[in-house]
Amino acid sequence: MTGDTRMTDDIRTAGDPRLAEEIRMTGDPVVTANILEVRGLRKTFVTRGAAGHGEHVAVDDVSFDVPRGSCLAIVGESGSGKTTTARIVAGLETADTGTVTIDGETAAGRGSRRGRAARPVQMVFQDPFGSLDPRQRVGAAIDELLRLHHRLGRAERRARVLELLAQVGLDERCAGEFPGNLSGGQRQRVAIARALSMEPKLLILDEAVSALDVSVQAQVLNLLIDIRRQTGISYLFISHDLAVVRQISDRCAVMCDGRLVEEGTTAEVLGSPREEYTRTLIDAVPRPGWTPRRRTGPAESGE
Ligand SMILES: Nc1ncnc2c1ncn2[C@@H]1O[C@H](COP(=O)(O)OP(=O)(O)OP(=O)(O)O)[C@@H](O)[C@H]1O
Ligand SMILES: [Mg+2]
Repeated sequence: MTGDTRMTDDIRTAGDPRLAEEIRMTGDPVVTANILEVRGLRKTFVTRGAAGHGEHVAVDDVSFDVPRGSCLAIVGESGSGKTTTARIVAGLETADTGTVTIDGETAAGRGSRRGRAARPVQMVFQDPFGSLDPRQRVGAAIDELLRLHHRLGRAERRARVLELLAQVGLDERCAGEFPGNLSGGQRQRVAIARALSMEPKLLILDEAVSALDVSVQAQVLNLLIDIRRQTGISYLFISHDLAVVRQISDRCAVMCDGRLVEEGTTAEVLGSPREEYTRTLIDAVPRPGWTPRRRTGPAESGE
């Protein structure tokens, strides 16, 4: 599904008030059906080993769409190329070949730092400590992004900080806290609030709930589901946890060794997979009563 499509107002705005305003102002603009279109992405890393230099194809001819307002999950075993694909979409990594079209605009290579940050795509990672400065209070961390990317006065910024915190279920007190004083779930909520402060059209969540306890994970997932309903934002949701993927995503793409091997609705892909590889992934999920097989032979170091 590609190209410009004229659609009815409801579908076109997908709940995005700025888009609705744009449509009111300009009459009848053409709006792309897909917020993200990825075509033929390929990324090779140079590897250095005992045998000398080599090349490893991390992402190999990957193409997919994210329909506006939807959630596409990317699943696949460790090393299958999920994060590399996400980083290319976010502009944090450059592809060897292929294109990334976001909201109708094809991203031009490696932008400036500021240009990249201002893209309509933001990314939330597994470890919010990585994206939060431990010496900066939460309110200041959000305010900093608002100052850099929006023309707002001090009072407006303060109001927006509180609004964003409320959107992720945190109260005013949180603004004065340092990240180290917050729980893992609260820190991840702050990371989501910071990402939302940039008003992205696409939010990439890379194992964003994987490190959280099950009950906290459920709360953050519900929050993400609510935010999507309220704002019409689109998600690219990367996870190894198929139960979580079932809960949040409309569509699901499966990666294996850098290639996208299967894609469809989440119910189709995880309910009646076409590919043997997908079946193996589903069968690998521990169920009640499942006991891990013990490793035999010499113990590996570092595990
Ligand atoms: N900067 C890099 N330099 C060299 N190789 C890399 C680099 N980044 C990723 N790779 C390699 O590319 C492949 C894909 O990695 P990637 O991180 O995209 O996988 P993933 O599906 O996200 O895995 P995981 O589930 O463990 O997060 C792996 O073999 C990885 O070792
Ligand atoms: Mg990864």
